Amino acid sequence: MQAVRQSDLMSSCNQARSHRLGDTSRMGAVEGASRPYVSFEPTDPQVVTALLRLAGVGERDRVVDLGAGDGRIVVAAARDFGARGVGFEINPRLVSMARERARTAGVEDLAQFVQQDLFEADLRAATVVTLFLLPEVNVLLRPKLLAELAPGARIISHTHGMGDWRPEKTRHVRDPAGWYHRLHRWSIPVRALGTDDGR
Ligand SMILES: C[S@@+](CC[C@H](N)C(=O)[O-])C[C@H]1O[C@@H](n2cnc3c(N)ncnc32)[C@H](O)[C@@H]1O
Repeated sequence: MQAVRQSDLMSSCNQARSHRLGDTSRMGAVEGASRPYVSFEPTDPQVVTALLRLAGVGERDRVVDLGAGDGRIVVAAARDFGARGVGFEINPRLVSMARERARTAGVEDLAQFVQQDLFEADLRAATVVTLFLLPEVNVLLRPKLLAELAPGARIISHTHGMGDWRPEKTRHVRDPAGWYHRLHRWSIPVRALGTDDGR
């Protein structure tokens, strides 16, 4: 009984949260972006830790956050897990904030930020890619992820799925304000199986 109530609560919180993201997100062209755009909504620090743990991030990883915002995921990966990382972010003010965050945390050597459209990002060296975007943007990214990531690379998405790709793991994490956050993980399969055209 308790478990049912708990899952109902998760479901309604996630719906409410998605609506909140929907309210603040705008699809459409913006200056400097050639694809759909998602507004800045930072991931709660506890959720950042949970998503990095879900990815199994360690010192040998190279974490890429597509739409890095103020850099908190890449900086936490470097500071707390010793991983190298790059955040791609279209908004120059957020890129400056991210670089400042890396400086303050003393991880500028590990955590870098590039002002660039995430669809133009070079993902070939990434072993972990993190996303907090929109469902339709995630689906648009599928061919790029399959083409550029090596087998075994992990993809973690906050809140949204990847179309009909079934996650290998999903976790629900409660933040200090009581919101539940859905985190999904996928892994890139071996090349022989990686023939999905991304539809
Ligand atoms: C929901 S926020 C997530 C920020 C950060 N990843 C986090 O979880 O805290 C999405 C971010 O994507 C950025 N963004 C949106 N469209 C982009 C694009 N085409 N290229 C690069 N960044 C983009 C926004 O400026 C925003 O900072």
